[in-house]
Amino acid sequence: MADKTHYTELGLVNTRDIFKKAVSGGYAIPAYNFNNMEQLQAIIHASIETNSPVIIQVSNGARNYANATMLRWMAKGAVEMAREMGSQVPICLHLDHGDSFELCQACIDSGFSSVMIDGSHLPYEENVALTRKVVEYAHQFDVTVEGELGVLAGIEDEVQSEHSTYTQPDEVEDFVKKTGVDSLAISIGTSHGAYKFKLAEGEEVPPLRFDILKEIEQRIPGFPIVLHGASSVVQSYVQLINQYGGHLDGAVGVPEEQLRQAAASAVCKINIDSDGRLAMTAKVREYLANNAEEFDPRKYLGAARSELIALMKHKNETVLGSAGKA
Ligand code: G3H
Ligand code: 13P
Ligand code: ZN
Repeated sequence: MADKTHYTELGLVNTRDIFKKAVSGGYAIPAYNFNNMEQLQAIIHASIETNSPVIIQVSNGARNYANATMLRWMAKGAVEMAREMGSQVPICLHLDHGDSFELCQACIDSGFSSVMIDGSHLPYEENVALTRKVVEYAHQFDVTVEGELGVLAGIEDEVQSEHSTYTQPDEVEDFVKKTGVDSLAISIGTSHGAYKFKLAEGEEVPPLRFDILKEIEQRIPGFPIVLHGASSVVQSYVQLINQYGGHLDGAVGVPEEQLRQAAASAVCKINIDSDGRLAMTAKVREYLANNAEEFDPRKYLGAARSELIALMKHKNETVLGSAGKA
């Protein structure tokens, strides 16, 4: 990256104020991942239409897919598009699951307003040291930092963990104090991807560990908590995908009611990626199957984008409670 850019030059905000309002207001800010233009347009349109603050987040995989420079200018374009449409919704550009100091530094230098340093797979003291190092760099530029304690089951970018290790409430106070992080991602039973729970015939999704969340809140009252792996794995999309040639067997996510409960607590950022992937895939499959003569990507990606907007509006309005909070 040749030139350094501060996020304020791109019209972005860090998470400090939006989290403060979300914690006291009992709602959560949506954090949607994007890798391409249609996803980003959909996120911004849904935020504008619901008047919701939003976090647009980029994983290391997204950077490798779309190119870091491309993504940074896309974020600038998204902010300018929103302002031209007459909206002042706060937009935060966040690194999702940063796995090294160097990656966080590169993102901060290129205009990200928030970064996650995910040292959750490291021994505790190493997680503290790495997170502290990122915070020290980030705070020089008023960039906010998300740390993580506890390991989610499933795939955390390239880091695989078969079993979830719940966050230990007796570590959180020490971690927050020693690292200076601005928010903390926790593990209370969610996992990444579209296969969050293995259910036997007729079995219900087990509740998230709200008892652990409550203990965490008691140790660090009012501190911003982040929930990863929060897709609901919308079953109508799974069905459409399977109807039009896909094969997703046993895909299941976190019920919306549980997310509502989380959003009403100190959980003030809810990460959603898989639901968007499912919505896009379902609509692309449906469109192509029903329009065999079409070959214009604007047609099938346009259909996917419209569905993404509807999905995100639904989340903002009826699940996270962020609508009207911009
Ligand atoms: O938590 C991971 C996000 O869903 C991003 O996934 O690494 O495949 O881009 P990705
Ligand atoms: P989902 O796979 O449940 O959408 O989780 C996304 C996430 O946590 C991104 O960091
Ligand atoms: Zn995640």
